[in-house]
Amino acid sequence: MAKDLSALVQNLASRLKEIDSVEAPMLEAKWILQSGRLDIEEILARRKRREPLSKILQSRGFWAYDFKVTKDTLDPRADSETLIDAVLRHFPEKEASLKVLDLGTGTGCLLLTVLKEYPQAFGIGTDKSLDALKVALENAVSLEVSSRSFFTLCDWFEKDWVQRLENLEISFGLSEGKAAKEADFVSSEKAESSKVTAADLKNESVFSNGQDSSCKKSVLISGEGAFFPADIIISNPPYIPTRDIEGLQEEVRDYDPLLSLDGGKDGLACYRRLAETIRPLLKTSGRIFFEIGQGQEEQVASLMRQNGFALEAAYKDLGGITRCLVFRLAG
Ligand SMILES: C[S@@+](CC[C@H](N)C(=O)[O-])C[C@H]1O[C@@H](n2cnc3c(N)ncnc32)[C@H](O)[C@@H]1O
Repeated sequence: MAKDLSALVQNLASRLKEIDSVEAPMLEAKWILQSGRLDIEEILARRKRREPLSKILQSRGFWAYDFKVTKDTLDPRADSETLIDAVLRHFPEKEASLKVLDLGTGTGCLLLTVLKEYPQAFGIGTDKSLDALKVALENAVSLEVSSRSFFTLCDWFEKDWVQRLENLEISFGLSEGKAAKEADFVSSEKAESSKVTAADLKNESVFSNGQDSSCKKSVLISGEGAFFPADIIISNPPYIPTRDIEGLQEEVRDYDPLLSLDGGKDGLACYRRLAETIRPLLKTSGRIFFEIGQGQEEQVASLMRQNGFALEAAYKDLGGITRCLVFRLAG
């Protein structure tokens, strides 16, 4: 039996090897077989068109967990685990009841991993993409942290995005493992104008597991009231300069959402906007963890400095590239 399996892996790996862009055929072969998918020819055809295997299988490992990914979410990258390492270093008390804000949550990989590491923590994930938020919420349920997480639409370039977030009536306590038809999304003005509203969400199943819905809510935070200011702000904003997008690998350019990549003319538009606006959301003792692109360290540190933050630490990814900057309030 084991011999048969090994022959299957070998056979699939040798077919994957014929596709130029596949860098780790053995690994991909195992991954496909483990997924239990039987439409191997279809998978190989999609790989030939440079679609990443994670997008085909709709799953990607990050830290110790599997995250659902779709065409609407950035594939979680191993480099981003540098942020998780950094959070663990700066907040060593695992039982602390931390309040965590993730700006641009995508699959929710950063926020949900932090919530898994800190069992008493609560977190808010925000995104401009409603479809990404649905995936994040689904991941929160499958990782059994949905009762400690809340997801909301928000666009950092809207005028009052910080005030709107601060004024949210946030309910935690979506029951674990249940398929909710009513999700904790709050529509921004922009979303309303594009006809995506919380009411629409109530009419569709956010989850795909087809279970009955019973959405139990409880208002948090254990008598403490407001969520903000947060102890931890994490963000991996889009940081690729617009002109570089065309030259990206096809797997990224054609299959990761443009919204998750495009950092504007110089790649720094989101950092600039966040640096100018996020201060009210952070506790005096809080920390901001930014993922950055290669070579952006000085520019991002300078933008933050101009807005009253001090660089506390910088961490490199496994490739030796500075990937995470940690900021505190200056002074
Ligand atoms: C680089 S992805 C990061 C996703 C996820 N946190 C991760 O690390 O894999 C950036 C995310 O920011 C969101 N985003 C882009 N522009 C935004 C904006 N103006 N306001 C809010 N979110 C935005 C994107 O939809 C995307 O999910």
